[in-house]
Amino acid sequence: MKTVNAFAALAAATSVYAAPSSTEQLLPRASTLPAITVKGNAFFSGSSRFYIRGVDYQPGGSSQLVDPLADSTTCTRDIAEFTKLGLNTVRVYTVDNTANHDACMAALAAAGMYLVLDVNTPLYSLNRATPAPSYNSVYLQNIFATIDAFANYTNTLAFFSGNEVINDDSTTSAAPYVKAVTRDMRQYIGSRGYRQIPVGYSAADVDSNRLEMAEYMNCGTDDERSDFFAFNDYSWCDPSSFQISGWDQKVKNFTGYGIPIFLSEYGCNTNTRKFEEVAALYNTEMTGVYSGGLVYEYSEEGSKYGLVTINSDGTITEGADFAALKTALAGTADPTGDGGYNSTGGASGCPLHSANWNVTGDSLPAIPSAAAAMMKTGAGKGFGLTGLGSQNAGGASTGTATAGSGSVTATSTSKKSAAVGRQSPFDATPVLVAGVAIAFSFLGACLL
Ligand SMILES: *[C@@H]1O[C@H](CO)[C@@H](O)[C@H](O)[C@H]1NC(C)=O
Ligand SMILES: *[C@@H]1O[C@H](CO)[C@@H](O)[C@H](O)[C@H]1NC(C)=O
Ligand SMILES: *[C@@H]1O[C@H](CO)[C@@H](O)[C@H](O)[C@H]1NC(C)=O
Ligand SMILES: *[C@@H]1O[C@H](CO)[C@@H](O)[C@H](O)[C@H]1NC(C)=O
Repeated sequence: MKTVNAFAALAAATSVYAAPSSTEQLLPRASTLPAITVKGNAFFSGSSRFYIRGVDYQPGGSSQLVDPLADSTTCTRDIAEFTKLGLNTVRVYTVDNTANHDACMAALAAAGMYLVLDVNTPLYSLNRATPAPSYNSVYLQNIFATIDAFANYTNTLAFFSGNEVINDDSTTSAAPYVKAVTRDMRQYIGSRGYRQIPVGYSAADVDSNRLEMAEYMNCGTDDERSDFFAFNDYSWCDPSSFQISGWDQKVKNFTGYGIPIFLSEYGCNTNTRKFEEVAALYNTEMTGVYSGGLVYEYSEEGSKYGLVTINSDGTITEGADFAALKTALAGTADPTGDGGYNSTGGASGCPLHSANWNVTGDSLPAIPSAAAAMMKTGAGKGFGLTGLGSQNAGGASTGTATAGSGSVTATSTSKKSAAVGRQSPFDATPVLVAGVAIAFSFLGACLL
């Protein structure tokens, strides 16, 4: 497994909401695709099960940070490659929330593709070593602004509140902050009257606390629970098998888990990649519990995970891994019917404190007061990729939340979304929602 870190951030432009004219309502932003919803432990497109067939997409990685959804020349070039691969989803780790994303989101939608977006940036993220001061209103403002920037697109499939914030047992004490951020994002989406866009966390490939992290993100009151859970997994290294990789155990251990799970990064590159895991991932031996995954990663960034190389003249060279993934995906249909999903769904119990899990009690930090006010006022302008950073910005949380405090109590009525397929705003009914957390994930760094 690797400890690639990056951060994902989203940004959002300030939203000035005005009632749209009927003409504007006919110009939905990238809304030719139906919004994806959560039912039980699965994703759905209308009444059909939806499996993520995706790649992680961040050309330049974290060292040369560029918003890949802000440049229509490069995104359309890359979408042509995604189409050849037969994808339906891409994950982006960091965006500039002050940029315009209409063209790329529309191009993705036209190609039948969804976006899973990390809301963090290197500068606006939780600090896993000292999480308390970094959980502050400046940080939340920036990620809320990112939500504003992407909530209108019906092909925004989901938001990651964090990526690999917890990367070993000693950093598990940051978990309450990750969970609080997830809660706050969900409350913001509901309070602003947006579609119920799923929010969840992307966990590092750490065996010793994976299950605890998953349970933790799905325990407690409904306002505190995530909409889904995802983890990065590099355990299937071809040649391998369902048993040799341990994926059979990962099905067993997560059977009965009440929200969707998918692999937010996969594709071990220890040996020649044939992507034989694809045949297992979309097979009923896994689809009762898992909803697909995202291959790490689209472009070569120096760590030998790239499916393509982006040449200095901007052209694309497809590598051997590209052909292998294309063949694997083309040879693997989704299961017929509902794939054996569990329609019940529900909460997990909270994990107990242990040597692997340094969290005592179930309470979460209260939302910082300035961020709470944004539920009514909106976040305003985001800081983009060049702000001063949030980790020591002040305005941190000062207390412990009461259970249920993240429920949506009032919905903004000052705006209307033009997005097609918009659903009812969240309400306080107990369905399967949970939170997402924030973190950063580093792209393309050290593998282990
Ligand atoms: C979202 O759509 C509404 C209604 O059309 C519009 O007023 C608002 O500006 C849009 N938000 C963004 C960030 O484009
Ligand atoms: C557990 O977390 C607390 C902070 O909540 C910290 O003070 C303590 O050192 C941590 N223990 C271990 C073993 O990491
Ligand atoms: C499955 O759960 C068992 C028992 O908690 C644990 O020992 C094992 O490491 C887990 N396996 C995986 C692959 O997560
Ligand atoms: C379905 O999910 C519920 C709630 O998480 C759980 O209690 C039940 O055992 C699951 N059923 C199966 C067959 O996994």
